[in-house]
Amino acid sequence: LPALEQEAENATISQGVVESNHAGFSGTGFVNYNNVAGSYIEYTINAEAGGEHDLTFRYANGTTADRPVSVTVDGASAQTVSFPGTGAWTTWQTRTAKVTLKAGLNKIRATATTANGGPNADKLTAVLVGPPDTEAP
Ligand code: GCU
Repeated sequence: LPALEQEAENATISQGVVESNHAGFSGTGFVNYNNVAGSYIEYTINAEAGGEHDLTFRYANGTTADRPVSVTVDGASAQTVSFPGTGAWTTWQTRTAKVTLKAGLNKIRATATTANGGPNADKLTAVLVGPPDTEAP
């Protein structure tokens, strides 16, 4: 099964702006979360099969402070993902969280939990890592 991904600049953005002034992003830009708790990006991932997935967030954080984000799937199963400093706003790294997705559309919301907001966000990739859910007969 192929990896599924969405560029942050194509996702739903609440309290954030699309920018392109720090090189190294994929697509046409990245999302700069507003520096406020509660700012979020909501990605839509169309999973081919339900089951356990790795969600990989590509990001940059040019500060030395972690910018943790709460990740939910369709509004539930919240977990906090850490986005520590990457050394520069042009240095992009990844962090991965494990989640269960259902076949079809899944709304993955990544909400800043501190007053610094989230990191600069490039894209989200989902890869099925567990056995796919079996179809009902
Ligand atoms: C700088 C940087 C932005 C970043 C911001 C922040 O302004 O240029 O890309 O989003 O800091 O701290 O969030």
